[in-house]
Amino acid sequence: MIRIAPSILSADFARLGEDIDRCTGADLIHVDVMDGHFVPNITIGPPVVASLKKHTSVPLDVHLMIANPQQYVEAFAAAGADIITLHAESDVHLHRAIHQVKALGRQVGVSLNPATPLCMIEEVLPDLDMVLIMSVNPGFGGQKFIDASLDKIRRLRAMISATGKDISIEVDGGVTMDNIAQIHRAGADTFVAGSAIFSTPDYGHTINALRQQCR
Ligand code: DX5
Ligand code: ZN
Repeated sequence: MIRIAPSILSADFARLGEDIDRCTGADLIHVDVMDGHFVPNITIGPPVVASLKKHTSVPLDVHLMIANPQQYVEAFAAAGADIITLHAESDVHLHRAIHQVKALGRQVGVSLNPATPLCMIEEVLPDLDMVLIMSVNPGFGGQKFIDASLDKIRRLRAMISATGKDISIEVDGGVTMDNIAQIHRAGADTFVAGSAIFSTPDYGHTINALRQQCR
């Protein structure tokens, strides 16, 4: 299954609802939460997620790029996050944080920065619904895809196969019409795209075209 997740980081924040409505065919809405500590940028918090939840039936894929995620997981779950992804680098008690999300009945993902090795999640991999491979250094949209991510995705796909579980690989950062097929072949199934969608006039058409590249 291929999932396309438009990242609202590249949307017009004064017209979020309208921009999401224009994302016809989106499988998930990717919501980038940044705190100015874990990453050098500040975006949005639970109130915006709650408003989005009221506005759309598309599942919300909430990517937490924040310090102390355990402090905020409950608020994001209450706001209506369907998938909550934490960064492995942001919590030394990652196992506890993962199980906090699961106990709230939400799907859980763990994200790895470009410099973080896959072995960081070896022990918790069977507990996860999704692994999010950052293919740029998080903080900003519109950056260039780091090519070394492809081999990391291939190795992660092999690790997941060894668990025998159905765990998604999401890729975030620099995904475009030109590289999505290659990323898919490496083993990813869920694709975040910000600038590649919101810089085009017809978001629905672009989402469909991105999906077609993976066939
Ligand atoms: C980066 C964010 C991404 C970002 C991707 O820190 O996590 O979700 O919006 O934007 P593009 O697709 O433009 O690289
Ligand atoms: Zn993201």
